[in-house]
Amino acid sequence: MSQWQELEHKYFMKTVERLPVTIVRGQGARVWDEDGREYLDFVAGWAVNSLGHCPPVVIAAVAEQARTLIQTSNQFYTIPQIQLAEILVQHSCLDKVFFCNSGAEANEGAVKLARRYGKRYLNGAYEVITTLSSFHGRTLAMVAATGQPKFQQPYVPLTAGFVNVEYNSIEAIKEATSNQTCAIMLEPLQGEGGVNLVSDNYLTAVRDWCDQKGILLILDEIQTGVGRTGTLFAYEQYGIEPDIMTLAKGLASGIPIGAILAKDGASVFTPGEHGSTFGGNAVTCAAGYATLKFIIDNDVAGNAKRVGQYFITKLEQLRQKFQFITEVRGYGLLIAVEFSSDIANSVLKACLDRGLLVNRVKPNALRFMPPLIIGNSEVDEALGILDEALSSIVSLK
Ligand SMILES: Cc1ncc(COP(=O)(O)O)c(C=O)c1O
Repeated sequence: MSQWQELEHKYFMKTVERLPVTIVRGQGARVWDEDGREYLDFVAGWAVNSLGHCPPVVIAAVAEQARTLIQTSNQFYTIPQIQLAEILVQHSCLDKVFFCNSGAEANEGAVKLARRYGKRYLNGAYEVITTLSSFHGRTLAMVAATGQPKFQQPYVPLTAGFVNVEYNSIEAIKEATSNQTCAIMLEPLQGEGGVNLVSDNYLTAVRDWCDQKGILLILDEIQTGVGRTGTLFAYEQYGIEPDIMTLAKGLASGIPIGAILAKDGASVFTPGEHGSTFGGNAVTCAAGYATLKFIIDNDVAGNAKRVGQYFITKLEQLRQKFQFITEVRGYGLLIAVEFSSDIANSVLKACLDRGLLVNRVKPNALRFMPPLIIGNSEVDEALGILDEALSSIVSLK
Protein backbone atom coordinates (compact mmCIF):
# COMPACT_ATOMS: atom_id res chain seq x y z
CA MET A 1 0.00 0.00 0.00
CA SER A 2 1.37 3.42 -0.91
CA GLN A 3 1.80 6.28 1.52
CA TRP A 4 -1.24 8.06 0.10
CA GLN A 5 -3.36 4.96 0.49
CA GLU A 6 -2.26 4.56 4.11
CA LEU A 7 -3.27 8.16 4.79
CA GLU A 8 -6.64 7.53 3.18
CA HIS A 9 -7.24 4.61 5.53
CA LYS A 10 -6.35 6.85 8.46
CA TYR A 11 -8.55 9.82 7.56
CA PHE A 12 -11.55 8.62 5.58
CA MET A 13 -14.95 7.26 6.52
CA LYS A 14 -15.07 3.91 4.85
CA THR A 15 -17.94 4.38 2.42
CA VAL A 16 -16.25 2.70 -0.55
CA GLU A 17 -13.93 -0.25 -1.22
CA ARG A 18 -11.34 1.50 -3.34
CA LEU A 19 -9.18 -0.32 -5.85
CA PRO A 20 -5.46 -0.21 -4.99
CA VAL A 21 -4.62 2.52 -7.49
CA THR A 22 -3.96 6.21 -6.81
CA ILE A 23 -4.70 8.10 -9.98
CA VAL A 24 -2.64 11.25 -10.35
CA ARG A 25 -3.11 12.36 -13.97
CA GLY A 26 -5.44 11.94 -16.92
CA GLN A 27 -5.37 12.72 -20.61
CA GLY A 28 -8.05 11.75 -23.13
CA ALA A 29 -9.14 8.17 -22.47
CA ARG A 30 -6.09 7.40 -20.31
CA VAL A 31 -5.03 7.90 -16.70
CA TRP A 32 -1.74 7.32 -14.87
CA ASP A 33 -1.14 6.18 -11.29
CA GLU A 34 1.46 7.44 -8.82
CA ASP A 35 4.00 4.90 -10.10
CA GLY A 36 3.55 6.10 -13.68
CA ARG A 37 1.47 3.08 -14.80
CA GLU A 38 -0.92 3.83 -17.62
CA TYR A 39 -4.56 2.67 -17.76
CA LEU A 40 -7.19 2.86 -20.48
CA ASP A 41 -10.19 4.32 -18.70
CA PHE A 42 -13.53 2.69 -19.53
CA VAL A 43 -15.15 3.98 -16.32
CA ALA A 44 -14.59 7.71 -16.93
CA GLY A 45 -15.45 8.80 -13.41
CA TRP A 46 -18.72 6.80 -13.61
CA ALA A 47 -19.84 8.19 -16.98
CA VAL A 48 -18.63 11.70 -16.24
CA ASN A 49 -15.56 12.44 -18.39
CA SER A 50 -17.56 12.63 -21.64
CA LEU A 51 -14.78 14.45 -23.49
CA GLY A 52 -12.04 12.42 -21.83
CA HIS A 53 -9.67 13.62 -19.14
CA CYS A 54 -8.56 17.25 -19.16
CA PRO A 55 -10.18 18.23 -22.49
CA PRO A 56 -8.48 21.39 -23.85
CA VAL A 57 -11.77 23.24 -24.56
CA VAL A 58 -12.89 22.78 -20.96
CA ILE A 59 -9.49 23.68 -19.50
CA ALA A 60 -9.55 26.91 -21.52
CA ALA A 61 -13.11 27.77 -20.49
CA VAL A 62 -12.46 27.05 -16.80
CA ALA A 63 -9.18 29.00 -16.75
CA GLU A 64 -10.71 32.01 -18.48
CA GLN A 65 -13.77 32.01 -16.21
CA ALA A 66 -11.68 31.52 -13.05
CA ARG A 67 -9.65 34.59 -14.02
CA THR A 68 -12.85 36.59 -14.61
CA LEU A 69 -15.46 35.59 -12.00
CA ILE A 70 -15.74 32.41 -9.94
CA GLN A 71 -18.91 32.83 -7.86
CA THR A 72 -21.56 35.32 -6.90
CA SER A 73 -24.86 34.74 -5.15
CA ASN A 74 -27.88 33.81 -7.21
CA GLN A 75 -29.41 37.17 -6.36
CA PHE A 76 -27.47 38.44 -9.35
CA TYR A 77 -27.49 37.55 -13.02
CA THR A 78 -24.32 35.83 -14.24
CA ILE A 79 -23.56 35.15 -17.88
CA PRO A 80 -22.16 31.57 -17.95
CA GLN A 81 -25.29 30.10 -16.33
CA ILE A 82 -27.53 31.92 -18.77
CA GLN A 83 -25.45 30.67 -21.71
CA LEU A 84 -25.61 27.10 -20.43
CA ALA A 85 -29.37 27.34 -19.82
CA GLU A 86 -29.91 28.68 -23.33
CA ILE A 87 -27.97 25.91 -25.09
CA LEU A 88 -29.74 23.25 -22.97
CA VAL A 89 -33.17 24.62 -23.82
CA GLN A 90 -32.32 25.11 -27.51
CA HIS A 91 -31.24 21.48 -27.83
CA SER A 92 -33.91 19.74 -25.71
CA CYS A 93 -37.70 19.66 -25.50
CA LEU A 94 -37.66 21.49 -22.15
CA ASP A 95 -38.13 25.22 -21.53
CA LYS A 96 -36.72 26.18 -18.14
CA VAL A 97 -33.61 25.26 -16.14
CA PHE A 98 -32.44 25.19 -12.52
CA PHE A 99 -28.78 24.46 -11.73
CA CYS A 100 -27.45 22.62 -8.68
CA ASN A 101 -24.40 20.56 -7.75
CA SER A 102 -25.03 16.85 -8.23
CA GLY A 103 -27.37 14.24 -9.59
CA ALA A 104 -29.04 13.49 -6.26
CA GLU A 105 -29.65 17.19 -5.68
CA ALA A 106 -31.15 17.54 -9.17
CA ASN A 107 -33.53 14.64 -8.49
CA GLU A 108 -34.47 16.04 -5.06
CA GLY A 109 -35.30 19.32 -6.76
CA ALA A 110 -37.29 17.53 -9.46
CA VAL A 111 -39.37 15.77 -6.80
CA LYS A 112 -39.91 19.07 -4.96
CA LEU A 113 -41.04 20.58 -8.26
CA ALA A 114 -43.47 17.70 -8.81
CA ARG A 115 -44.84 18.10 -5.27
CA ARG A 116 -45.25 21.81 -5.88
CA TYR A 117 -47.17 20.94 -9.06
CA GLY A 118 -49.28 18.50 -7.05
CA LYS A 119 -50.11 21.19 -4.50
CA ARG A 120 -51.08 23.63 -7.20
CA TYR A 121 -52.94 21.44 -9.67
CA LEU A 122 -53.60 17.98 -8.17
CA ASN A 123 -55.28 18.64 -4.82
CA GLY A 124 -52.04 18.23 -2.90
CA ALA A 125 -50.95 14.93 -4.51
CA TYR A 126 -47.34 14.29 -3.50
CA GLU A 127 -46.45 10.66 -4.21
CA VAL A 128 -43.84 9.78 -6.83
CA ILE A 129 -43.77 6.34 -8.42
CA THR A 130 -40.26 5.04 -9.14
CA THR A 131 -38.98 1.62 -10.19
CA LEU A 132 -37.18 -1.33 -8.62
CA SER A 133 -33.46 -1.57 -9.53
CA SER A 134 -33.41 2.17 -10.16
CA PHE A 135 -30.79 4.57 -8.89
CA HIS A 136 -31.59 8.19 -8.15
CA GLY A 137 -28.91 9.20 -5.63
CA ARG A 138 -27.83 8.98 -1.99
CA THR A 139 -29.69 11.75 -0.18
CA LEU A 140 -32.36 10.63 2.27
CA ALA A 141 -35.27 11.22 -0.09
CA MET A 142 -33.45 9.78 -3.10
CA VAL A 143 -32.67 6.62 -1.14
CA ALA A 144 -36.45 6.20 -0.82
CA ALA A 145 -36.82 6.88 -4.54
CA THR A 146 -34.09 4.36 -5.39
CA GLY A 147 -35.78 0.97 -5.62
CA GLN A 148 -32.93 -1.10 -4.18
CA PRO A 149 -33.17 -2.52 -0.65
CA LYS A 150 -29.38 -2.43 -0.13
CA PHE A 151 -29.42 1.38 -0.31
CA GLN A 152 -32.64 1.71 1.73
CA GLN A 153 -32.28 -0.79 4.59
CA PRO A 154 -29.54 1.04 6.57
CA TYR A 155 -31.65 4.20 6.69
CA VAL A 156 -35.19 3.13 7.53
CA PRO A 157 -37.59 4.75 8.26
CA LEU A 158 -37.55 6.06 4.70
CA THR A 159 -38.80 9.44 3.56
CA ALA A 160 -42.51 9.15 2.79
CA GLY A 161 -44.00 9.73 -0.63
CA PHE A 162 -42.30 7.15 -2.86
CA VAL A 163 -43.66 3.91 -4.29
CA ASN A 164 -41.17 1.54 -5.96
CA VAL A 165 -42.67 -0.71 -8.64
CA GLU A 166 -41.35 -3.23 -11.15
CA TYR A 167 -39.41 -1.70 -14.09
CA ASN A 168 -40.83 -2.23 -17.58
CA SER A 169 -44.32 -2.95 -16.26
CA ILE A 170 -46.97 -0.40 -17.17
CA GLU A 171 -49.49 -2.52 -15.24
CA ALA A 172 -47.44 -2.06 -12.04
CA ILE A 173 -47.45 1.70 -12.58
CA LYS A 174 -51.18 1.74 -13.20
CA GLU A 175 -51.81 -0.29 -10.07
CA ALA A 176 -49.64 2.01 -7.94
CA THR A 177 -51.22 5.22 -9.23
CA SER A 178 -53.67 6.85 -6.82
CA ASN A 179 -55.15 10.28 -6.28
CA GLN A 180 -52.00 11.01 -4.23
CA THR A 181 -49.69 10.47 -7.23
CA CYS A 182 -48.11 13.61 -8.68
CA ALA A 183 -45.36 12.06 -10.87
CA ILE A 184 -43.60 9.02 -12.24
CA MET A 185 -39.81 9.14 -12.16
CA LEU A 186 -37.78 6.80 -14.39
CA GLU A 187 -34.39 6.27 -15.96
CA PRO A 188 -34.74 5.62 -19.73
CA LEU A 189 -32.12 2.91 -19.16
CA GLN A 190 -31.20 1.83 -15.63
CA GLY A 191 -27.46 2.44 -15.33
CA GLU A 192 -26.41 1.58 -11.76
CA GLY A 193 -29.10 -1.08 -11.59
CA GLY A 194 -27.20 -3.11 -14.21
CA VAL A 195 -27.64 -1.38 -17.61
CA ASN A 196 -31.24 -2.60 -17.82
CA LEU A 197 -32.89 -1.54 -21.08
CA VAL A 198 -36.50 -0.39 -21.38
CA SER A 199 -38.77 -2.80 -23.17
CA ASP A 200 -40.57 -1.82 -26.38
CA ASN A 201 -43.32 0.78 -25.92
CA TYR A 202 -42.81 1.05 -22.13
CA LEU A 203 -41.94 4.74 -22.18
CA THR A 204 -44.73 5.52 -24.64
CA ALA A 205 -47.20 3.69 -22.40
CA VAL A 206 -45.93 5.58 -19.33
CA ARG A 207 -46.16 8.89 -21.20
CA ASP A 208 -49.75 8.10 -22.24
CA TRP A 209 -50.64 7.12 -18.68
CA CYS A 210 -49.22 10.38 -17.30
CA ASP A 211 -51.23 12.34 -19.87
CA GLN A 212 -54.38 10.41 -19.06
CA LYS A 213 -53.97 11.03 -15.31
CA GLY A 214 -52.65 14.58 -15.60
CA ILE A 215 -49.48 13.66 -13.68
CA LEU A 216 -45.85 14.48 -14.52
CA LEU A 217 -43.21 12.31 -16.16
CA ILE A 218 -39.75 12.92 -14.73
CA LEU A 219 -36.90 11.35 -16.69
CA ASP A 220 -33.67 10.91 -14.75
CA GLU A 221 -31.10 11.32 -17.54
CA ILE A 222 -28.23 11.86 -15.12
CA GLN A 223 -26.36 8.88 -16.56
CA THR A 224 -28.00 8.57 -20.00
CA GLY A 225 -28.00 12.26 -20.95
CA VAL A 226 -25.50 14.47 -22.74
CA GLY A 227 -24.69 12.03 -25.53
CA ARG A 228 -23.98 8.89 -23.52
CA THR A 229 -26.54 6.66 -25.24
CA GLY A 230 -25.91 7.88 -28.78
CA THR A 231 -28.33 10.81 -28.91
CA LEU A 232 -28.00 14.03 -26.93
CA PHE A 233 -30.75 12.78 -24.59
CA ALA A 234 -32.01 9.21 -24.42
CA TYR A 235 -35.70 10.21 -24.60
CA GLU A 236 -35.14 11.20 -28.26
CA GLN A 237 -34.87 7.50 -29.12
CA TYR A 238 -38.34 6.70 -27.83
CA GLY A 239 -40.51 9.37 -29.48
CA ILE A 240 -41.66 10.80 -26.14
CA GLU A 241 -40.96 13.96 -24.17
CA PRO A 242 -40.66 14.24 -20.38
CA ASP A 243 -42.23 17.08 -18.38
CA ILE A 244 -39.12 17.25 -16.20
CA MET A 245 -35.61 15.94 -16.90
CA THR A 246 -32.59 15.81 -14.61
CA LEU A 247 -28.95 15.92 -15.71
CA ALA A 248 -25.56 15.82 -13.96
CA LYS A 249 -22.54 13.52 -14.52
CA GLY A 250 -21.26 14.26 -18.06
CA LEU A 251 -22.66 17.77 -18.32
CA ALA A 252 -19.55 19.69 -17.23
CA SER A 253 -16.70 17.23 -17.94
CA GLY A 254 -16.14 16.45 -14.27
CA ILE A 255 -16.76 19.82 -12.64
CA PRO A 256 -19.66 19.07 -10.21
CA ILE A 257 -23.02 20.11 -11.63
CA GLY A 258 -26.66 19.09 -11.65
CA ALA A 259 -29.59 20.48 -13.60
CA ILE A 260 -33.37 20.27 -13.50
CA LEU A 261 -35.09 21.03 -16.79
CA ALA A 262 -38.86 21.43 -17.07
CA LYS A 263 -41.53 22.26 -19.59
CA ASP A 264 -43.11 25.67 -19.04
CA GLY A 265 -46.27 24.03 -17.70
CA ALA A 266 -44.35 22.11 -15.03
CA SER A 267 -42.06 24.96 -14.08
CA VAL A 268 -44.03 26.01 -11.00
CA PHE A 269 -41.42 27.15 -8.46
CA THR A 270 -41.88 30.71 -7.30
CA PRO A 271 -39.11 32.89 -5.80
CA GLY A 272 -37.79 31.51 -2.51
CA GLU A 273 -39.21 28.00 -2.96
CA HIS A 274 -35.95 26.40 -4.07
CA GLY A 275 -32.31 27.43 -4.19
CA SER A 276 -28.63 26.59 -3.94
CA THR A 277 -25.55 28.58 -2.97
CA PHE A 278 -23.24 27.00 -5.52
CA GLY A 279 -25.83 25.97 -8.11
CA GLY A 280 -25.11 27.85 -11.32
CA ASN A 281 -21.55 28.65 -10.23
CA ALA A 282 -19.81 30.61 -12.98
CA VAL A 283 -16.83 28.27 -13.45
CA THR A 284 -19.02 25.17 -13.37
CA CYS A 285 -21.39 26.62 -15.94
CA ALA A 286 -18.54 27.76 -18.18
CA ALA A 287 -17.29 24.14 -18.11
CA GLY A 288 -20.82 22.92 -18.85
CA TYR A 289 -21.26 25.30 -21.76
CA ALA A 290 -17.88 24.39 -23.27
CA THR A 291 -18.68 20.68 -22.87
CA LEU A 292 -22.14 20.82 -24.35
CA LYS A 293 -21.14 23.09 -27.22
CA PHE A 294 -18.28 20.75 -28.13
CA ILE A 295 -20.61 17.73 -27.97
CA ILE A 296 -23.18 19.39 -30.21
CA ASP A 297 -20.75 20.99 -32.70
CA ASN A 298 -18.79 17.75 -33.16
CA ASP A 299 -21.69 15.28 -33.04
CA VAL A 300 -20.06 13.48 -30.14
CA ALA A 301 -23.35 11.65 -29.50
CA GLY A 302 -23.17 10.27 -33.06
CA ASN A 303 -19.63 9.09 -32.35
CA ALA A 304 -20.84 7.37 -29.17
CA LYS A 305 -23.52 5.64 -31.23
CA ARG A 306 -21.13 4.43 -33.97
CA VAL A 307 -18.32 3.36 -31.64
CA GLY A 308 -20.86 1.82 -29.26
CA GLN A 309 -22.30 -0.31 -32.07
CA TYR A 310 -18.80 -1.44 -33.02
CA PHE A 311 -18.07 -2.24 -29.37
CA ILE A 312 -21.27 -4.30 -29.00
CA THR A 313 -20.56 -6.24 -32.22
CA LYS A 314 -17.08 -7.07 -30.98
CA LEU A 315 -18.34 -8.04 -27.51
CA GLU A 316 -20.85 -10.36 -29.17
CA GLN A 317 -17.91 -12.01 -30.96
CA LEU A 318 -16.18 -12.41 -27.60
CA ARG A 319 -19.37 -14.06 -26.33
CA GLN A 320 -18.92 -16.78 -28.97
CA LYS A 321 -15.48 -17.47 -27.52
CA PHE A 322 -16.42 -17.32 -23.84
CA GLN A 323 -19.68 -19.17 -23.35
CA PHE A 324 -20.02 -17.87 -19.78
CA ILE A 325 -20.81 -14.42 -21.19
CA THR A 326 -24.59 -14.68 -21.17
CA GLU A 327 -25.55 -11.26 -22.48
CA VAL A 328 -24.21 -8.07 -24.03
CA ARG A 329 -26.52 -5.05 -23.78
CA GLY A 330 -26.53 -1.27 -23.91
CA TYR A 331 -26.83 1.83 -26.04
CA GLY A 332 -24.13 4.18 -27.23
CA LEU A 333 -21.24 3.97 -24.82
CA LEU A 334 -23.18 2.62 -21.85
CA ILE A 335 -22.74 -1.12 -22.20
CA ALA A 336 -22.74 -4.17 -19.93
CA VAL A 337 -21.68 -7.77 -20.28
CA GLU A 338 -23.30 -10.31 -18.02
CA PHE A 339 -21.72 -13.58 -16.89
CA SER A 340 -23.32 -16.87 -15.88
CA SER A 341 -21.72 -16.62 -12.41
CA ASP A 342 -20.42 -13.98 -9.99
CA ILE A 343 -17.01 -13.46 -11.58
CA ALA A 344 -17.23 -9.72 -12.31
CA ASN A 345 -14.81 -8.78 -9.52
CA SER A 346 -12.18 -11.26 -10.71
CA VAL A 347 -12.52 -10.05 -14.31
CA LEU A 348 -12.28 -6.44 -13.14
CA LYS A 349 -9.06 -7.20 -11.25
CA ALA A 350 -7.61 -9.12 -14.19
CA CYS A 351 -8.39 -6.09 -16.42
CA LEU A 352 -6.86 -3.71 -13.87
CA ASP A 353 -3.64 -5.76 -13.76
CA ARG A 354 -3.46 -5.42 -17.55
CA GLY A 355 -4.13 -1.67 -17.64
CA LEU A 356 -7.87 -1.41 -18.29
CA LEU A 357 -10.38 0.24 -15.92
CA VAL A 358 -13.88 -1.23 -15.98
CA ASN A 359 -16.82 -1.13 -13.54
CA ARG A 360 -18.43 -4.05 -11.71
CA VAL A 361 -22.07 -3.08 -11.91
CA LYS A 362 -23.41 -6.35 -10.45
CA PRO A 363 -21.62 -9.38 -8.99
CA ASN A 364 -22.11 -11.04 -12.39
CA ALA A 365 -21.85 -8.04 -14.73
CA LEU A 366 -19.32 -5.46 -15.90
CA ARG A 367 -20.25 -2.00 -17.17
CA PHE A 368 -18.29 0.03 -19.71
CA MET A 369 -18.79 3.81 -19.93
CA PRO A 370 -15.68 5.21 -21.60
CA PRO A 371 -15.26 8.83 -22.72
CA LEU A 372 -17.57 9.56 -25.66
CA ILE A 373 -14.66 10.74 -27.83
CA ILE A 374 -12.97 7.34 -28.13
CA GLY A 375 -12.60 5.62 -31.51
CA ASN A 376 -12.61 1.99 -32.63
CA SER A 377 -8.89 1.68 -31.86
CA GLU A 378 -9.45 2.23 -28.11
CA VAL A 379 -12.28 -0.30 -28.24
CA ASP A 380 -9.94 -2.82 -29.92
CA GLU A 381 -7.32 -2.19 -27.26
CA ALA A 382 -9.85 -2.65 -24.46
CA LEU A 383 -11.20 -5.82 -26.06
CA GLY A 384 -7.69 -7.25 -26.37
CA ILE A 385 -7.19 -6.75 -22.63
CA LEU A 386 -10.66 -8.08 -21.78
CA ASP A 387 -10.01 -11.16 -23.92
CA GLU A 388 -6.76 -11.82 -22.02
CA ALA A 389 -8.46 -11.17 -18.68
CA LEU A 390 -11.31 -13.58 -19.49
CA SER A 391 -8.81 -16.20 -20.67
CA SER A 392 -6.96 -15.89 -17.36
CA ILE A 393 -10.24 -16.48 -15.50
CA VAL A 394 -10.96 -19.56 -17.63
CA SER A 395 -7.55 -20.99 -16.85
CA LEU A 396 -8.26 -20.55 -13.12
CA LYS A 397 -11.60 -22.36 -13.34
C1 LIG B 1 -29.46 7.73 -12.99
C2 LIG B 1 -28.75 8.38 -11.83
N1 LIG B 1 -29.41 9.26 -11.07
C3 LIG B 1 -28.81 9.88 -10.04
C4 LIG B 1 -27.51 9.62 -9.71
C5 LIG B 1 -26.88 10.33 -8.54
O1 LIG B 1 -25.95 11.28 -8.99
P1 LIG B 1 -24.87 11.88 -7.98
O2 LIG B 1 -23.96 10.78 -7.60
O3 LIG B 1 -24.22 12.98 -8.77
O4 LIG B 1 -25.63 12.42 -6.81
C6 LIG B 1 -26.78 8.70 -10.47
C7 LIG B 1 -25.39 8.37 -10.12
O5 LIG B 1 -24.87 7.36 -10.47
C8 LIG B 1 -27.41 8.06 -11.57
O6 LIG B 1 -26.78 7.17 -12.32
